[in-house]
Amino acid sequence: MTDARDFFGYKRPDDEPGRRPEDEDGPDPDSPPALEEAITLDSPAVVARIDREDMLGRVRDLPRQLAKARQAAAGLTLTDRHRSVDLVVVLGMGGSAIGADLVAAAAGDRLRVPLIVQRDYHLPSGIGERTLVVAASHSGETIETVTAAAEARARGLPLVVIATGGALGRQADAEGTPWLRYEEPGQPRAALGWSVGLLHELLGAAGLITNPDPLGPVVAVLDELLERMGPGVETDANPAKQLAWSVFGRIPVIYGAGPMAAVARRWKTQFNENAKSWAAYEPMPEANHNAIEGSLNPRELAGALFVIDIRDPAEAPEITARYRVVEELLGERATNRATVRAEGPSPLARVLSGVAWGDLVSVYLGILYQTDPTPVTLLAMLKERLARSD
Ligand code: F6R
Repeated sequence: MTDARDFFGYKRPDDEPGRRPEDEDGPDPDSPPALEEAITLDSPAVVARIDREDMLGRVRDLPRQLAKARQAAAGLTLTDRHRSVDLVVVLGMGGSAIGADLVAAAAGDRLRVPLIVQRDYHLPSGIGERTLVVAASHSGETIETVTAAAEARARGLPLVVIATGGALGRQADAEGTPWLRYEEPGQPRAALGWSVGLLHELLGAAGLITNPDPLGPVVAVLDELLERMGPGVETDANPAKQLAWSVFGRIPVIYGAGPMAAVARRWKTQFNENAKSWAAYEPMPEANHNAIEGSLNPRELAGALFVIDIRDPAEAPEITARYRVVEELLGERATNRATVRAEGPSPLARVLSGVAWGDLVSVYLGILYQTDPTPVTLLAMLKERLARSD
């Protein structure tokens, strides 16, 4: 497949990928580039200079976090009120909310009660007293989560906090609320092993997931995958680096069915936050009922998108049949596409292997854009301004 290396093998640091030559005020695009540095994912020095806060190292840390979360959750004490529930509501935003989507996706019909992931200031309407509320916030300070957790407290609902500290941690300490506390420097989205591992173990301990997947084999699958596609493996042998090159200069749209819908959402948010790129995701089979029609116009932008299908080797036959028909119908369209296959012996392993793939691709893409993947400048400014306007 042709990818951006054919067009953008070299570039100046202040270039915008994909900018058309006629839009440029600068030097003649046909003249030999005044190279400062070739863009490459294979030079540790170049990678280290762009990925200053080592987001690649954080991604590599996912299995270690998962293993530590298992140990940390073992010390949790729950009451009968935490176990005797008809509904679980997980309060969280962004990188702290997606862990709950992933846990629910992997648990599937082993979840004994419905699980709602609530990304808002308020509890969902109509919930009863037999609702377990889990407030998940890496910082413990996210205003939507703190506000909704206060509602849960005011209603006397059973509550568990997952946080490193902050307001949620202080309140949990003051009121004796069960608190799954962890320490992890860096960004919330890079603490996914904790948010997934702690919630998974909590729901297992409360008896709300029957036959939870053991974490040990998941850790082994992730370790192997992250080595195989890690920064030390050169592009020619590294499918994650190759995919980053294919997406470079284009807007990724990620599709996933069943548990892979949550994985597709994680890919989308990681492209946003690590690569600072536009991205979208589409859950299947819903996408067959609308998105499939939206693949024609504007015709001149067909090449600007890159579709990624995240496939589960254990997907239902009806989903396989759908993908086959979609392929037949859209095969001739100009849209660039690639398929990524999750792997592993359990649903949780497959969900997290899909996540690990996408986390790597998103960081590689950020590096190709010569953007430090770690800081989320606009998000930090937004939080700061909202706090000031209180
Ligand atoms: C940043 C990130 C964000 C945060 C979100 C909520 O890396 O992932 O999406 O997760 O702003 O903040 P916390 O997780 O502290 O509640």
